[in-house]
Amino acid sequence: MMEHPAWTDRHEAALQEAWKARANAWAPYSGFQVGCALMVPGGGVVAGCNVENASYGLTQCAERCAICAAVAQGNSTFTDIIVVTDLESPSPPCGACRQVLFEFAPEATVWLVGKQPGKTWHKVSDLLPHAFRFEPPAR
Ligand code: THU
Repeated sequence: MMEHPAWTDRHEAALQEAWKARANAWAPYSGFQVGCALMVPGGGVVAGCNVENASYGLTQCAERCAICAAVAQGNSTFTDIIVVTDLESPSPPCGACRQVLFEFAPEATVWLVGKQPGKTWHKVSDLLPHAFRFEPPAR
């Protein structure tokens, strides 16, 4: 079990970005809005929200939306990942998002924030034991 990670003013600012992104979530089908903020080493924050589609299977989760935005801005690792919903109990990333988060930040802390005060947290690698890793064969 990892030691309780610190929640700082930077985390508080990133949390606000996650809530802001969540307000932009495109979720007319499920009605379930999710926001995610990624904290970049050195101080940046990149946020994302879920983006649903009439063809349901094309839906993009908030976590992967944030990862794509961050990578497009040149970031490839993250210290903390904050996920916000309005559920009573915090909602953890789905399996697909765990694999994508693992690619970039296996050591990062995932903070889950719901309506209740208090945050739960996990390390990405604890959320996805035995993650898939691809070692390209030598050619
Ligand atoms: N959703 C996320 O944004 N992140 C997750 O980790 C789980 C699910 C979204 C996808 C969909 O828009 C809605 O929640 C209901 O599944």
